[in-house]
Amino acid sequence: MHIKELFSLKNKVILVSGGAGNYGKCIVEGLAEADATVIIASRNIDHANEVARSFRARDLDVYALCLDQGDHQSVLQLKKQLLEKFKKLDVFINNAVSRPMKGYDSAITDFAESMQVNATGSMDILREMAELIVANGGGSIVNIGSMMGMFGPDLSNYEGTEMGTPPPDYFFHNAGLLNLTRYMAQVLAGKNVRVNCISPGGLFNHQPEAFLNNYCKKVPLKRMANKDDIKGLVVLLSSEAGAYINGENILMDGGLNA
Ligand SMILES: NC(=O)c1ccc[n+]([C@@H]2O[C@H](COP(=O)([O-])OP(=O)(O)OC[C@H]3O[C@@H](n4cnc5c(N)ncnc54)[C@H](O)[C@@H]3O)[C@@H](O)[C@H]2O)c1
Repeated sequence: MHIKELFSLKNKVILVSGGAGNYGKCIVEGLAEADATVIIASRNIDHANEVARSFRARDLDVYALCLDQGDHQSVLQLKKQLLEKFKKLDVFINNAVSRPMKGYDSAITDFAESMQVNATGSMDILREMAELIVANGGGSIVNIGSMMGMFGPDLSNYEGTEMGTPPPDYFFHNAGLLNLTRYMAQVLAGKNVRVNCISPGGLFNHQPEAFLNNYCKKVPLKRMANKDDIKGLVVLLSSEAGAYINGENILMDGGLNA
């Protein structure tokens, strides 16, 4: 197959949970620019519709559906609407994240709230979307984790800032997602579904100056991730170009942890 064809997502229907968020928008843009039909699933449907409309204004085929990943009925409703409106699912990008916990000292009920969406909800939507992909003859699932699921926090990054200690739930559920990726790749064996994980480093989002200085001087590329950095990787794993990559985790951190 020609390399352009291998990377093309033409006629593919792709769901991106949390697709109206920071990394989500970059992912949606990359997939739609590679010619996929992309559906953003998000709790705030008005905002998701607004984001989808702004992509359509640029001739990108992007729509929005409602999802509360912490609610099983909402996941089932999304599945039903996907089939009714788009007839099939080829690729699922498991990207949504809820951040109820603000730091080490946050209430333990915030940890439980996080798990409802980021652990239970993540497994729920993975299993339901995998069923649609299998029913369509196969495809790809990409979990968006974090380098914080692979390593402990580097607390020196927060020196001189008011950012506090990063919350523990984030390290817990992202580490779990990594091994769940391997689990799902094995469980779906023989069904033509690949399951991979991307573990990104921090995306530039106007963080405090002191944090940017602390962080960027440790990155061999001397910067945080920008809005284009994740696009190529997510298109690779979603397309035929990544057809023999399965059960893998790819760290995308500019060399920070090298
Ligand atoms: N931003 C970063 O620097 C960074 C770094 C490494 C990894 N990541 C990973 O990238 C992914 C996206 O993170 P982000 O920074 O873009 O987050 P974000 O907070 O900007 O976006 C998260 C999205 O998830 C949605 N969401 C939250 N709770 C939901 C629920 N119950 N149901 C449905 N949708 C819900 C939000 O509405 C939002 O659109 C996450 O998996 C995160 O771990 C982000």
